[in-house]
Amino acid sequence: MRKKIIAANWKMNKTVSEAVTFLDTFLLELGEEKRVDVVICPPFTALAKVSEVLSDVSNVRLGAQNMHWEKPGAYTGEVSADMLRELFVRYVVLGHSERRSLFGETDAVVNRKTKAALAAVLKPIVCVGETLDERDAGRVESVLSTQLSGSLADLSAKEFEEVIIAYEPVWAIGTGRTASPEQAQAAHAFIRAHLETMAGKAVADKVRIQYGGSVKPANTAELMSQPDIDGALVGGASLEARGFVEIVKHAL
Ligand code: PGA
Repeated sequence: MRKKIIAANWKMNKTVSEAVTFLDTFLLELGEEKRVDVVICPPFTALAKVSEVLSDVSNVRLGAQNMHWEKPGAYTGEVSADMLRELFVRYVVLGHSERRSLFGETDAVVNRKTKAALAAVLKPIVCVGETLDERDAGRVESVLSTQLSGSLADLSAKEFEEVIIAYEPVWAIGTGRTASPEQAQAAHAFIRAHLETMAGKAVADKVRIQYGGSVKPANTAELMSQPDIDGALVGGASLEARGFVEIVKHAL
């Protein structure tokens, strides 16, 4: 049985003080809930403070939204895995469609980052998903296979098990247009079958695959009841503390 994992991707939102205000309410409302893994991915500037607030909280983990693949060095504007580790970051979102489309990240780049994250004992949340044009052209499966094969190339079976995949159809991100539970399940089942060709059935059965794209309290339960949907990566609806708690509770 795969434990559900719900992650908040705050994107470029929340100052440090806004992050603290969110946590005041969120932690109170969440209580001792431990049946779901919960991850908060604030912007880099709020990581240190959020880490401090979470230091005596055992059921919420810290995630980052990106990292560089190199060791510390001359990479202006970038952040290394070691810097994240020092702040007790456990997860890192890699290859989000906004990074791919706005900042030119390729599958090869995502692969380098994935390997660097695993080497630093960070759990990568590797994002894949098709655009609307690709879906309309009947290319969902070919896009997903290319992204998965490229982004997860050359990982050992043990490394594969540490990876979380986020299926995020680009047309559903921030648009209010969620994939139907059937559309999402079909994509997740395809992803799991592809992982099986890459790493074998035993590994593919263990990997958690999150859905992302306009997840909100009202649509969480139905999405999470699908057999191959193991959690959610939540953008807009993770910015409001009470709403995000509801999403976590609907994942049970
Ligand atoms: P959204 O974003 O929930 O605002 O659609 C999801 C994501 O981009 O991770």
